[in-house]
Amino acid sequence: MAKTPKESLTILTDIVLPGESNPLGNLFGGELLARMDRACSIAARRHSHSIVVTASVNHVAFNNAIPVGSVVTIEAKVSRAFKSSMEIYVDVWIEDRESQKRSKVNEGIYTFVAVDKLGKPITVPKLEPETELEKERYEGALRRKQLSLILSGKMKPTDADELKALFIG
Ligand SMILES: CC(C)(COP(=O)(O)OP(=O)(O)OC[C@H]1O[C@@H](n2cnc3c(N)ncnc32)[C@H](O)[C@@H]1OP(=O)(O)O)[C@@H](O)C(=O)NCCC(=O)NCCS
Repeated sequence: MAKTPKESLTILTDIVLPGESNPLGNLFGGELLARMDRACSIAARRHSHSIVVTASVNHVAFNNAIPVGSVVTIEAKVSRAFKSSMEIYVDVWIEDRESQKRSKVNEGIYTFVAVDKLGKPITVPKLEPETELEKERYEGALRRKQLSLILSGKMKPTDADELKALFIG
C-alpha cells in the first residue's frame, strides 16, 4: 500500500558542542553530514519497515555556518520511492535563542536502499506526495536518480531519458 511523506517524517533536535566544531567555532561539516545521514536512515526505515543502507549522498548545500551553541533541527522525509531505493530530502534549521524564530541553514538529498538480512535490495512501498513542496520534490526525483547513477558510473548518459528531456524539451 502507498504511503505518504509525513509517515516517514523524522525530526532530530540537538545542540552543537565545542568538540563538534571547526577552527572557526562552527559545526564541522562531517558532523552535520552524520546527523543528516542518521535522520534520513530513520525516515527510510519508517517508509520501508526494513533494513536500509545509504547508497549515495546526491546533494548537500552548506549554505550557512552553524555556530557552537546552536540548537539544530534536522527534518527528513522520503520524497520518492522507486523499486528498492528511496530519495530522502533533509532540511536543516537553527533557532534564535531569544525569539525562537527558525531559519533554514542547509539541506541535503540522500538515497537509501532497502535490503534483506543478506544485504540484497528488496521492494519498498510507493509514495504519494500530498503538499505542493512534496509534489515538486517527487517530480524532480527521477532526474536526480539518473544523475546520481551517471556520476557513480552505473548508468550511461545516453540512457538517462528523464534528464535528457530536461534539456531537449
Ligand atoms: C546500495 C546497494 C545495496 C546497491 O546494491 P546494487 O547491487 O548496486 O543493487 P542495484 O543495482 O539493484 O541497486 C539497487 C537500487 O539502488 C539504486 N542505486 C544504486 N546506486 C545508486 C546511486 N549511486 N544513486 C542512486 N541510486 C542508486 C539503484 O538504481 C536501484 O534502485 P531501484 O531498485 O529503486 O530501481 C549496495 O551498493 C550496497 O550495499 N552498498 C553499500 C551500502 C553501505 O554500506 N552504505 C553505508 C556506507 S558507510
